[in-house]
Amino acid sequence: PLITFIAHDGLATEINATSGSSLMHEAVSHGIGGIVGECGGAGACATCHCYLDDASLDRIEQPGRAEKDMLEFVVEPAHNSRLGCQVTVSDALDGAVVRLPASQF
Ligand code: FES
Repeated sequence: PLITFIAHDGLATEINATSGSSLMHEAVSHGIGGIVGECGGAGACATCHCYLDDASLDRIEQPGRAEKDMLEFVVEPAHNSRLGCQVTVSDALDGAVVRLPASQF
């Protein structure tokens, strides 16, 4: 699926992501800035915080309890906040737009 990441300064980068991988892993391996993934995807650091467009959010699973708890600690939470490492890439994310918080740059 094609996924566009938008940096806090508006720079957009489209990647062809691999299904089954996580949003965080795909961003990091494609050199996208603004998503860190310090804990390696364990859901424990929240440095993979990102904002997913509403249409995509509706097509994927809602955050689990642990993800919701972590999202309470991010710097700028929003209704569409997700932890990138907890979002699995699939065709449901084709055309997704992921915005990255300024705090992670
Ligand atoms: Fe640490 Fe996602 S990479 S919470």
